[in-house]
Amino acid sequence: MKQEIMTITSQQQLAPRIFQMTLTGELVNEMEKPGQFLHIKVPREDMLLRRPISINQIDKQAKTCTIIYRTEGDGTKVFAELTEGDTLDVMGPLGNGFDVDCLSAGQKAFVIGGGIGIPPMYELSKQLIERQIEVFHFLGYASKEVVYFENEFIALGDTRFATDDGSFGVEGNVGNLLLDALTKEQPDAVYACGANGMLKMVAQVFSDNSNVFLSLEQRMACGMGACYACVCHVPDDETGTKSVKVCDEGPIFRASEVVL
Ligand SMILES: Cc1cc2nc3c(=O)[nH]c(=O)nc-3n(C[C@H](O)[C@H](O)[C@H](O)COP(=O)(O)OP(=O)(O)OC[C@H]3O[C@@H](n4cnc5c(N)ncnc54)[C@H](O)[C@@H]3O)c2cc1C
Ligand code: FES
Repeated sequence: MKQEIMTITSQQQLAPRIFQMTLTGELVNEMEKPGQFLHIKVPREDMLLRRPISINQIDKQAKTCTIIYRTEGDGTKVFAELTEGDTLDVMGPLGNGFDVDCLSAGQKAFVIGGGIGIPPMYELSKQLIERQIEVFHFLGYASKEVVYFENEFIALGDTRFATDDGSFGVEGNVGNLLLDALTKEQPDAVYACGANGMLKMVAQVFSDNSNVFLSLEQRMACGMGACYACVCHVPDDETGTKSVKVCDEGPIFRASEVVL
């Protein structure tokens, strides 16, 4: 993990409140694993806490990385006002990243993303495909209006969509897509990032698969394992005191390792 002032090389809006930003700097040399995140300082003196944002793409040759974020509060709104040439104080890469070594060439992976949990699944899918893993994408959004990055996933391989209101892909959540796919394909590993409800559903549907990897989202402060702001409970903990720190022990855990 290092810290650097990175330069924005592009920023564009993909959908309402959703932005894609590309950054350049030496820090890109440290970025290897999909699912890791950057801890980014908001360039405003009154905002001390960094904002965790997942790495969406790594391009070592161009020395760039891309993030995709949705404006939620003041911090992400400040990010959205930045333009090409502006700089950001970035710490990273942080977190453990997705385990891609558990699979070998020819095996199958289900890659599942919901809403603003979709961005890190793109770099994951690229790296799985490089390892000759057969990848199936299942992407869920609230509605057609907020669908983004759909063509990028289609370009990588088999991609199925669901929206809550049925305005794009099938109606409902990605669970419907998964049950349909399971009648034809059995994945050797399952990777998911999205809202807690979606992660719980994924853990349930694939309860007999030991390779289910879930990327958790917890509010964070230090991002480096020092403050315990981001803890998540573990199973078989009668005292209720055992926990894992999502920032440095995660954000990715096997489904059997955490209580959602
Ligand atoms: C590992 C990880 C990866 C993430 N990746 C992405 C991503 O790729 N794209 C994206 O849009 N969002 C992502 N998030 C969520 C993102 O960090 C929050 O939306 C963002 O911090 C909100 O900041 P804000 O100032 O706009 O909102 P505010 O609500 O004003 O933030 C107030 C404080 O709470 C923290 N906070 C608020 N919401 C969250 C949250 N959901 N998770 C963690 N901290 C939060 C902020 O960091 C800040 O310190 C990720 C979160 C985690 C933990
Ligand atoms: S955010 Fe401080 S320990 Fe995780």
